[in-house]
Amino acid sequence: MSTHAKRHLVLVGMMGSGKSTVAAIVGERLGMPTIDLDEVVEAEAGTSIAALFAGPGEERFRDLEADMLVSVLADPTPTIVATGGGAVLRPDNRTSMACAATVVWLRASPETLHARIGDDPGRPLLADDPLGSLRSLHEQRGVAYRDAADLVIDVDGIGVDDVAAAVVAQVAP
Ligand code: S3P
Repeated sequence: MSTHAKRHLVLVGMMGSGKSTVAAIVGERLGMPTIDLDEVVEAEAGTSIAALFAGPGEERFRDLEADMLVSVLADPTPTIVATGGGAVLRPDNRTSMACAATVVWLRASPETLHARIGDDPGRPLLADDPLGSLRSLHEQRGVAYRDAADLVIDVDGIGVDDVAAAVVAQVAP
């Protein structure tokens, strides 16, 4: 990938869609560094995302997420960025991504997401009813993912290696 304006590759999609794992594989195949935005936020905050939601709250987390997204995308080095599932929600975030990156949506059904995530208690937005919450979030966020994405890859029933190969096939020069 060259150093043109859309120099980065950003993966978006719901939690459990495989963004971090796929980003790592794609980064290795394309010889590009990989960044996980959730990890950058946690490092900046000095605490976990679960603790951020439980303490300062989701808005504080979203502010940090937006700030860290801008900072990651400002790097001149072409990078693969795995975002958190809600990073597309703020229009300013979608604009930042569109300016600096090719954005790929890893689209998965709520059932696929639930099968992968299970009932992980560390997911603040899934609360007591993970499958029901995933269905609502999937419904609410579809427009934002569609708006953000340059490319869509359906990942239901497809392993991470094959998803990564599909990403590489679509973005490699
Ligand atoms: C979130 C997804 C999480 C994390 C936070 C909020 C969301 O990231 O950013 O819990 O709003 O969907 P992953 O998609 O990497 O799990």
